[in-house]
Amino acid sequence: MSTVVVVGVQWGDEGKGKVVDLLAREADIIVRFQGGSNAGHTLVVGGKKTVVRLIPSGVLHSGKVCVIGNGVVVDPETLVEEIDTLQQQGCLMDPSLLKISETAHLIMPYHKAIDIARERLRGEGKIGTTGRGIGPTYEDKMARGGIRFVDLLDDDIFSEKLKRNLQEKNSYLSVILKDQTLEYQPIFDNYRRFRDRLAPHVTNTSLYLHNEIARGRKVLFEGAQGTMLDIDHGTYPYVTSSNTVAGAVCTGAGIAPQQIHGVIGISKAYTTRVGSGPFPTELFGPEGETIRRKGGEFGTVTGRPRRCGWFDAVVARTAARLNGVNSFALTKIDVLSGFSTLRVCTAYEYKGKRYEEVPASANVLEQLTPIYEELPGWSEQLTDIRSLDALPANTRRYVERIEQLVNVPVKMISVGAGREETILIRPTFF
Ligand code: IMP
Repeated sequence: MSTVVVVGVQWGDEGKGKVVDLLAREADIIVRFQGGSNAGHTLVVGGKKTVVRLIPSGVLHSGKVCVIGNGVVVDPETLVEEIDTLQQQGCLMDPSLLKISETAHLIMPYHKAIDIARERLRGEGKIGTTGRGIGPTYEDKMARGGIRFVDLLDDDIFSEKLKRNLQEKNSYLSVILKDQTLEYQPIFDNYRRFRDRLAPHVTNTSLYLHNEIARGRKVLFEGAQGTMLDIDHGTYPYVTSSNTVAGAVCTGAGIAPQQIHGVIGISKAYTTRVGSGPFPTELFGPEGETIRRKGGEFGTVTGRPRRCGWFDAVVARTAARLNGVNSFALTKIDVLSGFSTLRVCTAYEYKGKRYEEVPASANVLEQLTPIYEELPGWSEQLTDIRSLDALPANTRRYVERIEQLVNVPVKMISVGAGREETILIRPTFF
């Protein structure tokens, strides 16, 4: 295998950053293909924490090429800040190590303003977005009014598009959303500054990847968010605005389906979700609180407390099918130490009907009853364990039951946040 896709199989925050960071050791090129700075991947190396939002999580390995594909929506301000922070740590010193697609769309200040104002107006019915302008930017892309990096490189084209868009967005902001309007000149000046910083990185990344894959270079595609947040296959409308499934690699990085050789699904050993929307196995009592506290379940980007619940095999099964997952990485299993009994959701039931896969209706998802199976817990701390055999018997039983329910082998188990706190059941992925 020379290309591997890593995707989240739940509602995001599965620990993809850590897994990508680990796999990046073996890869030559790491690629983001969707989403934007709504993602926040936390990397802990040598006890030091780094959060990346737009730059692929492999950036901490020297000499690896990081690619931001055309399917990503880029906030250039966040990207410049991220480059600055990483360069202060001695990463990304060579500009050729970061490549940005010339056809990636730019998040503009009006996108963020619209995102925030709309959520405010939605009140109780809000989606709980990250407020980063992700949805409004993808809307403009589909409406064919978006601004791309290739436009930013040409002052006249950028100026014309910005003026046209601002006129429309300002009337939407003031008349419909009852919010403040934005001025042209400060945006133009700021974006010119960002252009000067980012222009050396802008290129045809689709062609670059095609040529590198043809040469046999190892490419890792890093998904953001999770399958249940996919705009088509997730718990609509409580989803993000991009396709998060593995198939999105083709459109979001500009490569052909035959060029994808393997898919790794990342799942927490339990379930979390941020923002609004259905969550069948959510825990509202002290058990959920324990998971939140022990797992440090607070959003990387927004700091919001994450909703916590039991492992949901229906979600994982559906996601495994949609993504064509070959193997699973199970993260944060150490957080489950101390529960005398664990529950795993094996199916749903609604009005006498049994569901083995996630139903489409948000209404059904809100009202269904999860069917649980109980498994014995374990009290031992797992963080120092490095082999499957050394895990407590009940932990192994828990992992095996998940494999059976989802019908996918678990090849990696994460027992702590650090790079080294990992059990690799099959050490190589390429
Ligand atoms: P948006 O992507 O900011 O539009 O937010 C839409 C939904 O996706 C909200 O429920 C967010 O909390 C969720 N979301 C977006 N990005 C992430 C992520 O990286 N991890 C987890 N949830 C996310």
